[in-house]
Amino acid sequence: MKYFISVLFASFFLIGFSFIVTSNGICDIKNGKTIYEQSCMDCHGKDGKGVLAPPHLESDRFKSQAGVVALVDYIMPATSPDFCTGTNAEDVSAYCTEEFKYKIPKETIAAIDATDAEGRKLLFDQTCSVCHGVDGKGDLARPIVGSTLFKTGEDVVKFIDGLMPFHNPRKCKDECAANTARYVIDSFDLKLSDR
Ligand code: HEC
Ligand code: HEC
Repeated sequence: MKYFISVLFASFFLIGFSFIVTSNGICDIKNGKTIYEQSCMDCHGKDGKGVLAPPHLESDRFKSQAGVVALVDYIMPATSPDFCTGTNAEDVSAYCTEEFKYKIPKETIAAIDATDAEGRKLLFDQTCSVCHGVDGKGDLARPIVGSTLFKTGEDVVKFIDGLMPFHNPRKCKDECAANTARYVIDSFDLKLSDR
């Protein structure tokens, strides 16, 4: 009974603090918890140590919170990825990051100085590599290396500005789009016809 009361108390406490601000804006942790319990727990376990899926407790796989959201939005739940997308993917990702103590580097996109080649690489690695791979050869999304999709550098900027990152294009606009475009053009041998 004592246990029950303390759980009850803890739940009230948690409800009060169920909104946290993450790099994705305001995420509803309570919604994330509900989704996790309904759609993820059978495979991943209540404690994140894995049942039918590999453990993700204290995962160090992600370079940014956007990476967690991309993985959930894109390929989780493993059997029906369309089931958890958009704000639901953001909510359950925020819940998982918090609850399962993912080790995500602290630098935010805004803090990256992308004025030199090294900075642009870091920006790409944090914002784009979860889908395209650090080498641009594709991971969850198709390769960028050797792309024949664009005529000019300006096309690349517009494409990234409007469409990338695929799950949330608003996260890399203007300067970010220009800098990642430059990195992509410099590094991945795009077949531009205006070169
Ligand atoms: C049918 C079983 C299944 C369900 C349901 C499922 N997953 Fe997964 N999950 C997997 C498998 C298998 C992997 C390993 C694949 C990989 O890492 O690419 C995985 C990997 C992950 C990872 C990466 C962990 C790491 O550290 O590498 C995360 C995070 C994750 N799942 C979150 C979720 C979330 C959130 C949900 C619910 C919306 C969910 N999963 C539902 C099977 C499942
Ligand atoms: C959530 C996964 C995801 C993330 C993150 C992501 N992309 Fe993409 N990217 C895609 C998908 C999917 C496509 C194919 C889109 C289509 O053709 O409609 C694509 C296509 C591209 C292409 C065109 C490749 C070709 O030749 O077809 C470029 C260039 C690109 N992305 C750059 C970027 C950059 C730069 C970033 C980071 C700012 C980024 N992407 C982040 C999923 C992603």
